[in-house]
This record gives sequence, C-alpha cells and structure tokens, in this order.
Amino acid sequence: MNVSVFGLGYVGSVSAASFAADGHSVVGVDVNPDKVASLNEGRSPIVEKGLDELIRDNAANGRLRATTSSAEAVNDTELSLICVGTPSRKNGSLDLRYLARVAEQIGEALRAKDSYHIVCVRSTVLPGTTHDVVIPAIERTSGKKYGTGFGVTVNPEFLREGTAIYDFRNPPLTLVGHNYRSDADPTQALYANVQAPMVTTTIRTAEMIKYASNTWHALKVTFANEVGNLCKRLKIDSHEVMDIFCRDEKLNLSSYYLKPGFAFGGSCLPKDVRAMQYRAKEVDLEMPVIQSILTSNQLQIRHALDEIVETGKKRVGLLGFSFKAGTDDLRESPIVILAEALLGKGCQLCIYDRNVSLARLVGANKDYINKQIPHLSSLLCDTIQDVIDKSDVIVIGNQSPEFADAVRATRPDQIVIDLVRLPLDPLQVPAEYRGLCW
Ligand SMILES: NC(=O)c1ccc[n+]([C@@H]2O[C@H](COP(=O)([O-])OP(=O)(O)OC[C@H]3O[C@@H](n4cnc5c(N)ncnc54)[C@H](O)[C@@H]3O)[C@@H](O)[C@H]2O)c1
Repeated sequence: MNVSVFGLGYVGSVSAASFAADGHSVVGVDVNPDKVASLNEGRSPIVEKGLDELIRDNAANGRLRATTSSAEAVNDTELSLICVGTPSRKNGSLDLRYLARVAEQIGEALRAKDSYHIVCVRSTVLPGTTHDVVIPAIERTSGKKYGTGFGVTVNPEFLREGTAIYDFRNPPLTLVGHNYRSDADPTQALYANVQAPMVTTTIRTAEMIKYASNTWHALKVTFANEVGNLCKRLKIDSHEVMDIFCRDEKLNLSSYYLKPGFAFGGSCLPKDVRAMQYRAKEVDLEMPVIQSILTSNQLQIRHALDEIVETGKKRVGLLGFSFKAGTDDLRESPIVILAEALLGKGCQLCIYDRNVSLARLVGANKDYINKQIPHLSSLLCDTIQDVIDKSDVIVIGNQSPEFADAVRATRPDQIVIDLVRLPLDPLQVPAEYRGLCW
C-alpha cells in the first residue's frame, strides 16, 4: 500500500520504518524539517534500538521517504496514519492542538484529491475525540463527508519505548476501530505481515481500550510497588512473592475478576484487604492504591442504591442474596448491605436466593441470619415468581443460572436492574432492562 505517516516521533518513526520493511511504500510527514531531513538521509530521528538500521535500509531501497508537505503526502498515498503527540495540559486534559491541526491539513489536501482516502488515528485519544475533533476538522477543510468522501479508523499503538520495533512485530493484538467495514479493510491490510490476533470494534470502543490498557498497566506497577514496600517492611522478599503470585494464571493473571459489575464481598476479600491495610498502618506505610480499594467498593454499592432509588419505585425484588451464585455465605455480602440501605429508603423488599432459604440453612449461616440480619430474614421469599409478582423493580444480585429465565418472564411495566450482566439477549427481556456500569 501507499501510506503516509503524520508525526515522526516515537510512534510515527517506528510505524513508518516497520511498514516500509513490510513492503509498503511510506511517506513520513513532520513539521520539523530536521526530522524530515534525518529520515531522508537514512538516520533515525529518535533513539530506539534497531531503528537506525531499519530506516537506513528502507530509505536506501526507496520504500521510505519524508516530507514537510502534507498535500504531497496525502496525494501520493491512499491511507494516512496520524501519529502526532497528544500531550497533557497542566490540568491533566489532553492538548489536542497537534491532532486538530494535522486533521485540518489532511482535509485541506483531500479537497484537491478525487479518490477515497482513509485517515487512521494512531495517536492516543480519549473516547469521542475522533468523532468530535478529527472527523469535523477533515469535513470542514476538505468539503467532503465522512463515509462517502473519506474514511476514518482508530488503530491504537501498544509499543513500549526501548522495545518498540520488537513490540511492533509482536503486538498482543492489532486493534482496528471503525464504523464502516470498507474503511477497516485497508487498515487491516497494513498488518498483513504482523502475526497477531486482529480485533475490530467501533471507533469509540477502540479509543477506550487504549485508556483501559494503559491505566491497567499503571495500576499493575503501582500495586506491585505497594506490595513490595510492605514486603520490605516485613522483611519478606517481594520478588519471590510476586514471581510466585504471577504463576497463578487462573485468578491472578487472567480475565477473572475483570468484568465490570457489582461490588465484591464474601468472607475473604473485604476481610483480607482490611487486614493488609491495617498491617501497613502498623508499620507506618502508606499504600494509597490498596488503601482506596474498600472505599471504591462501597461506592459501587452506592451506585447500585442510587440506580434503584432513582426509579422512584418502592416495591423492590432482589434475586440473589449471597455475594456470588452457588453459596449460602452472607457474610459481607454487598447485596445484604444494599438491602439494608433500601429498607432505610423506605422500600418494601422481597428477596430470593435458592441457597439462602431459611428452611434449608443450618449452623453458622442460619445463626448469622438470625443474629446479624433478623430484620432481613422475614423478607426472604420461597419462589422467584413471588419476587416477580410483588415487585416493580427487580434487582439481579448474582449469576445464579435460573435468573436469566426469571428476567425473560418479567412484565413490560417492570424495571430490571442487572448488577452482574446475566448472559442473555436484552431484546428478550420484556421489562425495561438496565445495567450497573455497563
Ligand atoms: N511514545 C510511546 O511509547 C507511545 C506509545 C503508544 C502510543 N503513543 C501515543 O502516540 C502519539 C504520538 O506519541 P509520540 O511519543 O510518538 O509523540 P512525539 O511527541 O514523539 O512525536 C510527535 C511528532 O509529531 C510531529 N507533529 C506535530 N504536529 C504535526 C503536524 N501538524 N504535522 C506533522 N507532524 C506533526 C512533531 O513534530 C513530532 O515529531 C501520542 O498520542 C502518544 O500518546 C505513544
């Protein structure tokens, strides 16, 4: 393909050289004439292992050149990658001036071009930016319409400086956000020689995935450092701890626990996080990330409460009472806390959980209900149908398999608030169907 790459910084230089090495014909564009000259002389404009050789070879074989002229670059190519910087302002917001300017320049060049052109946003931008900034700027300056005169895709970059060329060749996945299938094809074709899963989604989702990824990486570093600081105070080898921790690929390094939904609870997680926080306090250690976990978890219960209260309905049915399906353990169940808060707001509750029926409970759990939450035990119903018949709002609190059928049997005058995202098609739900954080 004939490709232009706008912005010859870290992302642009590595992308331009790597696409050229894959056989594409690449024109780099930068407002900085020194960077353009450097690339044309076969030297890398940035310091990155292996990049000098890659640029030298591809500048020599004619597949890679650079210019300061956007018009020339757009005219000579069928796809333009935007790789300009999107730095932070003092208040943390993104400075989009380079992005807006480059979109205008591409648009100005497109005014004089007859053929359909794809603009691919590779810079990191917040969800909505491509629709609110890039597309309007190109439409305004080109006089063309998005979807007919030009196409747009979002293709976030996952490289790390220092190993950028290796990362370009071996990405975890290639992500292409698009709104029209025909726009995605040329962007995907760029990666024909990169062995990685190809994932396509909408533009807004692709923009968001980049932020979820980078924030997750930042959280991992901070979490490991906080655990490390505590280990050091307790004279434990933090590297041994984290090495063994990382060998658990079922719960620790996996997709488990990474589905947006309701608060965590039960007899272990809240207790153990609290104990670790307390230990840190005893050794005078601040762990701001770990210390904020329980506050964030309580806020999630608050969000659910607000969602229910805002319906204005008072007859509320809870399907699921224990913190997860398949257990009768009610200790620190966030649904129990939610139920108490709803009672405090004057709601009439009926609650169903197959595993928490008083008739079946024995021992510690029966004791817990009778001693700790006697005011809730009288609200337990014997059947799901009871709950559906008596409620205006039905709240799904855990993933019990029978709840999906129950939700399909609701009435159009009811509201279902699903805290856990049951595996069902929302179109099959007669009631108004809402989720929490999804
Ligand atoms: N650096 C990384 O490791 C990395 C990794 C993934 C994603 N990103 C994202 O990619 C984007 C680019 O980052 P970077 O580190 O390569 O930026 P950078 O600051 O190194 O390079 C940006 C380049 O764009 C050029 N430029 C500015 N306006 C231009 C215009 N109108 N026309 C042509 N060129 C113009 C600048 O002169 C500069 O050379 C950012 O959004 C960044 O968040 C960076």
